[in-house]
Amino acid sequence: MSDPIRVLFVCLGNICRSPTAEGVFRRYLEDHGLSARVAVDSCGTGNWHVGSAPDERARKAAAGRGVDIGHLRARQFQPEDLEAFHYILTMDRQNLADIRDVWMQQGGTEPRLFLDYLPDNPVSEVPDPYYGGDDGFDHVLDLIHQASEGLLADIRAHLD
Ligand code: 4NP
Repeated sequence: MSDPIRVLFVCLGNICRSPTAEGVFRRYLEDHGLSARVAVDSCGTGNWHVGSAPDERARKAAAGRGVDIGHLRARQFQPEDLEAFHYILTMDRQNLADIRDVWMQQGGTEPRLFLDYLPDNPVSEVPDPYYGGDDGFDHVLDLIHQASEGLLADIRAHLD
């Protein structure tokens, strides 16, 4: 079988939004029998939480929807990721600007906003829930679920 399509989700700390997206999208792939054809990873633009498990609030919110992200560990974005991944999807515009700076210098896969895959997109960013309450994490999950549908459709179109 051909090499998998590789998808990288990017946020700031890699302990809230992007590991949630990684876990949810991996689940979508499993549910659609595509695990062997699409690989998923996540990272943060910052290095503060490297090696840490996802934030407990993110773990609980994901578990509430049947997705376990407790085994994931944070890592920082590396310039080589622009060569290694076919989709580089950031949670907000600041993440996008940070990755885009590197992309402008060295090329590779052009990063874009994950919520570009949200149908009839009224929102363009997954808001950072780190300093907010628990409901922020549910909102993050809602957005990630909706955008995952669009992303899956796009990937399937490339696979067929
Ligand atoms: P994330 O959330 O980018 O969704 O993982 C954050 C986690 C930690 C911090 C900021 C955002 N922080 O400033 O430590």
